[in-house]
Amino acid sequence: MSQTPQLVATGEDLAGRAGPLPRLARLAYGGDYNPEQWPESVWAEDVELMRTAGVNLVSVGIFAWALLEPAERRYEFGWFDRLLDLLHDGGIAVDLATPTAVPPAWFRRRHPEATLVDRHGVRLGGGARQSFCPSSPAYAEASARITEQLARRYADHPALVLWHSHNEYGGANALCYCPTSTDAFRDWLRDRYGDLATLNATWGTTFWGQRYGDWAEIEPPHAAPTSVNPTQQLDFLRFSSDAHLANFRRERDILHRLSPGVPVTTNFMIANCKTIDYWRWAAEVDVVSNDHYLRAEQPDNHIELAMCADLTRGVAGGRPWLLMEHATSAVNWQPRNIAKRPGELRRNSLAHLARGAESALFFQWRASRFGAEKFHSAMLPHGGTDTRVWREVVALGADLPGLEPLRGTRVVAEVAVLWDWESWWAVELDWRPSTDLDYRERMAAYYERLWRDRFTVDFAHPERALDGYRLVVVPSLYLTTPAAAENLRRYVAGGGTVLVSYFSGIVDADDAVHPGGHPGALRELLGLTVEEFLPLRTGETVRLDADGTSVDTGAGVARSEIVGDVWAEVVVPQGAVPVWSYLDGPAAGGPAVTRHVFGAGHAWYVSTRLSAAGLGPVLRAAYRDAGLVPPDGVPDGVELVRRAGADGSRFLVAINHTDRDAGLPATGTDLLDGTVHQGVCRVPAGGVRALRI
Ligand code: GAL
Repeated sequence: MSQTPQLVATGEDLAGRAGPLPRLARLAYGGDYNPEQWPESVWAEDVELMRTAGVNLVSVGIFAWALLEPAERRYEFGWFDRLLDLLHDGGIAVDLATPTAVPPAWFRRRHPEATLVDRHGVRLGGGARQSFCPSSPAYAEASARITEQLARRYADHPALVLWHSHNEYGGANALCYCPTSTDAFRDWLRDRYGDLATLNATWGTTFWGQRYGDWAEIEPPHAAPTSVNPTQQLDFLRFSSDAHLANFRRERDILHRLSPGVPVTTNFMIANCKTIDYWRWAAEVDVVSNDHYLRAEQPDNHIELAMCADLTRGVAGGRPWLLMEHATSAVNWQPRNIAKRPGELRRNSLAHLARGAESALFFQWRASRFGAEKFHSAMLPHGGTDTRVWREVVALGADLPGLEPLRGTRVVAEVAVLWDWESWWAVELDWRPSTDLDYRERMAAYYERLWRDRFTVDFAHPERALDGYRLVVVPSLYLTTPAAAENLRRYVAGGGTVLVSYFSGIVDADDAVHPGGHPGALRELLGLTVEEFLPLRTGETVRLDADGTSVDTGAGVARSEIVGDVWAEVVVPQGAVPVWSYLDGPAAGGPAVTRHVFGAGHAWYVSTRLSAAGLGPVLRAAYRDAGLVPPDGVPDGVELVRRAGADGSRFLVAINHTDRDAGLPATGTDLLDGTVHQGVCRVPAGGVRALRI
């Protein structure tokens, strides 16, 4: 009963595309602009300063519903007309938002039934944002109305280059458990299953006697005395992502009808929003856009940034995408809102651009004096233009035109990592073998290893064709559909190399265990069975040692020890060869890392949790099978991204995240400062080179 996501094109059609913003056709620079927080007298100064900074695009209207429609069906567009004209006269293009993320207070008062309700049945309060039920018919009607008003009024405005539907769908109101949502969930289930017998079979309702005799008996997974049926939980997550998607589609269709030719986007929160299945969503937007905020306290957080940028490009099918929001410095919502260091803003923005973004947009243009986000950084800080942030903003704006040759070129990646929101949902439901199973953590660890080895990564949906990649890494694909398993089998049989981490291939799309022993969907490919899961206690570790006899691991010192934690398994090879074994712990003496020759390719399996460092020797061994050689002579902390144009042009972006100058082997001319580099390219401490090579 799995709903196969409608996958986006793989990006082969890139050549000749006009890019994400046909009406702008330049790298976009700017951000969210909330002029309603300021007297009109400030707007002219805003536009002047935008021009100074090289800003060419701002997103307006995002939170302006209450000002555009102060009472039901009473509209005040005069101020917005003046704003759009002013921006246009100043040469600033507009990304026009539908303001539907925050319904006005009158809506909430008039439609108490449209309030968001949490799993404990608590109706959530107003005075915030997104406190509405995503399945509410009243919300659907009111949001369609304001969208229509805006589209009719501004479709032909010359400043308009992009529609920005809503803001971060599901960001604050991902899941609603109110009576309206309950009815909508039942309707969604009826569509999915057709009849109750199928639902009962798929949900396994013979377990704990949960059988349903009437659709009206089915509830969303409210807080309950004990674990709620996992398939019911999984379906509720699918339904909820679709409920928001229905809201997006409604707005998009209105905008397409009334404003043809202007692309419609909505800003994703890619790896940071668990509840929205962006593979499904990406197929619905005209251009993918994403918001990214650094995890301030995390060391080397630029690696997480790179992962999110690559994943955004992945859901965009390899096509250019828009960085809709990031921060010039600190945010306001993390426990400690750490300011960016000098140069960090530039490195962050250019890393997104290197990885396929065709814009560097921020939240927000001018820092708010009041409200919940007044301590959030902005392009124009509270301190005005005599500030480091402003100077860096102006300098970055001056950099961007030099990077125009990157537009429309492709990021070159030889490694794919499989990412699946459904597997993320499923693996982290309750009553798994360990509460330490953490989808994102595994992704980040494998990604970090690949980043440190300087391989650029494409993210792919598990059912997407993988030809062309030398290596495919599969962290934590607990939920593996038969189609995904067949996809991997075909890829490896044809000569590919795959590396799979523990607790993958376990259940199907309905969270039912694949029959015949773990990992059912991948048993044949990996050449092994997992007889028993052996989750470890908090803090417990297991040591692994390379067998060094059966295969040349290429791991340098054959007997190097690696330490795992969280998880171990009883792995029984059935064709696979142990490469590392457990030295101690509950699986002592058994295989820990295995390699299986399958058709013309190789399938690796890692049965414990290894850190990014611990993964080093394991990945090195897999690289050898894949014919991959990590680039030589590149100092630690230097990020590399390669780009290729359909016309044969080649580019190398190098970002030095260290405080020492770095030399790397490269020849080319820097797009940013015109310097020519022969043989060795010096990347200044904290600096960036974008070479045409
Ligand atoms: C985003 C949101 C913006 C702003 C920003 C602050 O998630 O879209 O409106 O709140 O966070 O970092």
